[in-house]
Amino acid sequence: MEILDGKKISNQIKDEITVEVDKMKKNGEKVPHLAAVLVGNDGASLTYVGSKVKSCERVGFESTLVKMPSTTSELELLKKIEELNKNQDIDGFIVQLPLPEQINEQKVLMAIDPDKDVDGFHPANFGKMALDMSTFIPATPFGILELLERYNVETKGKHTVVIGRSHIVGRPMSILMGRKGFPGNSTVTLTHSHTKNITQITSQADIIITALGQPNYLKAEMVKDDVVVIDVGITRVPDEDTPRGYKITGDVDFENVSKKASYITPVPGGVGPMTIAMLLKNTLLARERHRAKNGN
Ligand code: GUN
Repeated sequence: MEILDGKKISNQIKDEITVEVDKMKKNGEKVPHLAAVLVGNDGASLTYVGSKVKSCERVGFESTLVKMPSTTSELELLKKIEELNKNQDIDGFIVQLPLPEQINEQKVLMAIDPDKDVDGFHPANFGKMALDMSTFIPATPFGILELLERYNVETKGKHTVVIGRSHIVGRPMSILMGRKGFPGNSTVTLTHSHTKNITQITSQADIIITALGQPNYLKAEMVKDDVVVIDVGITRVPDEDTPRGYKITGDVDFENVSKKASYITPVPGGVGPMTIAMLLKNTLLARERHRAKNGN
């Protein structure tokens, strides 16, 4: 069994990005600038957005954190997005999800300029991804592809089972694993809350990608020997023995599943850090595109 070490690989990617940013600085070019919009005080979202901003500093990007109260109206958020769309200094931005219930998520995602949509959630970018066109690939699926590629995990002709059909992870992952190329060329089954006989399906899988947010859901009895397991789950489970009072737990019963797996991602230290690294990569791409388009 080999651990797919997202922490290590994400650090390598950040180092590669730092080299590119240093070159930009040397040439007197503008460095990439990422903005993140956070509405409300959700603890997990605060942590994620904090890590995204901190990682910008690490690679030499500019970053802006826009914090808005949980009472923000849809119109106020749409106005802020319009401001960010127009701001020539900002290359890309994200609106952290989930949003408070008074705000329509679809309206918000549609309002983001697709050229600045480094999350890849705008329908124009999502459509391009499905059609194999060059675009921003959502950061978590992009990070999983990068991990599979850097560890040279064979995906061609394999049966990939994705558990969970969220717009952020499961759905795009199911599309990407079936695309032509490497990683890809898999036969994909997308499972969800209405799937019957899930164990029958997972026990036939060569690669399993879990993204449902249910701690320790995937058990050893549900997988075959030598399976590749990618665990996207990050649930805060109360734990009085830790200073924070909780521990981050994945969707996979790691202790037992890892005994059967050929490759497996840990939680934490697997997919999570890769998501941030790929968001930075998308922001670098946004900067390069803007420079090519505007000449600065
Ligand atoms: N919430 C959970 N994951 C993500 C993500 O990748 N991007 C945004 N914007 N919100 C999220």
